[in-house]
Amino acid sequence: MTRPAIQTVDVPLGERAYQIHIGGGLLARAAEWVAPVLRGREIFLAVDANAMEPHGRTLAEALRPLGRVEIAIIPPGEESKCVAQLDALWDRLSGARFGRNAAVVAVGGGVTGDLVGFAAASYLRGVDFIQVPTTLLAMVDSSVGGKTGINNRHGKNLLGAFWQPRLVLADTDTLATLPMGERIAALAEIIKYGVIYDAELFRWLEANIAALRDLQPAAIAHAVRRSCAIKADVVTQDERESGLRQILNFGHTVGHAIENVAGYGTLRHGEAIAVGMIVESALGLGHGPAWTTAEHQRLVALIAAAGLPTMLPAGLDLTLPQLFAAASSDKKNRGTGTKYIVPRALGTVEAVTIADDVVAPLLLAAGAKP
Ligand SMILES: NC(=O)c1ccc[n+]([C@@H]2O[C@H](COP(=O)([O-])OP(=O)(O)OC[C@H]3O[C@@H](n4cnc5c(N)ncnc54)[C@H](O)[C@@H]3O)[C@@H](O)[C@H]2O)c1
Ligand SMILES: [Zn+2]
Repeated sequence: MTRPAIQTVDVPLGERAYQIHIGGGLLARAAEWVAPVLRGREIFLAVDANAMEPHGRTLAEALRPLGRVEIAIIPPGEESKCVAQLDALWDRLSGARFGRNAAVVAVGGGVTGDLVGFAAASYLRGVDFIQVPTTLLAMVDSSVGGKTGINNRHGKNLLGAFWQPRLVLADTDTLATLPMGERIAALAEIIKYGVIYDAELFRWLEANIAALRDLQPAAIAHAVRRSCAIKADVVTQDERESGLRQILNFGHTVGHAIENVAGYGTLRHGEAIAVGMIVESALGLGHGPAWTTAEHQRLVALIAAAGLPTMLPAGLDLTLPQLFAAASSDKKNRGTGTKYIVPRALGTVEAVTIADDVVAPLLLAAGAKP
């Protein structure tokens, strides 16, 4: 199979501008892209345990000619986004006397990227950060945009910082070891980009969803590049999330509520978002003349074809009062009422505040309990 050429997405954030490189075989050649952004000769790799072999090791070997390379292993799982893991990273960095010219590199999924990014943002008041996403979700979502952070017992991502990476290397070969369920969950975010921003991407997904599930290199590279470009475009216009960036939340008001009530880890994030998109898409019917039952049905069909759920799984008894309480306490829901991002047309969405009694029948149709 021929390899697609390496593709690059520019994130034009002024003096914080950086590039995202996407393609197969990047890790073994990483020095080509890391050397130009490296200030000193100190590299700290923080690697998800599940990504260490072979990906972390390949990267470490590739970077060794550039200087000292230290490796910290991050235990897999959301629980690692905690103060104890952050403290362990600070301790390793300061214990090994990493200086202000050090580069901290996160190798793994969104958990590793968020945790390690916050360590980079805070160590010595901020050192250079490089993202090497090894999950499809991290490639299309969490490695772009500069949000870093950890959780505490009151909620997810409550502590953190905006800290842009200096470079993102998305080596699509790393996805070969990723479990199928993780790949499929990330498809929800890619479908989201089509609905909120890019009708052409949506149509391309309708034709290529099977190729994506099979990790066909050209299809993966295209989907990752378009997703990064869209997220970068949105984030560049609204780096600190005061307006436009909220469109990325399509499917997430309901999806977060589902995750929150079900208990984190019951459903994958992407699975909750898939159901959330279907509910919020239905809320869009009647809001824009170009979002009709036909478009809604196409979205449902695409979600199903991706292998994502279109309803809450049977046996998961989430009630309307629980879901509404969770939705209105979402930190992204400011002001009165509950805000949803709803489609107006394929590729265009808007934020609207909608009363619970309008949303209730749609949640029931999605499998919620009264
Ligand atoms: N910063 C942001 O803007 C942003 C955006 C979206 C999500 N997030 C965060 O991202 C996290 C979810 O990210 P995720 O879905 O990547 O989950 P994850 O980081 O937990 O990774 C999923 C699983 O895949 C494993 N893994 C990683 N790379 C692998 C590989 N190449 N081969 C085999 N296994 C591998 C991990 O060990 C883990 O078990 C959440 O904490 C979420 O809050 C952040
Ligand atoms: Zn999401």
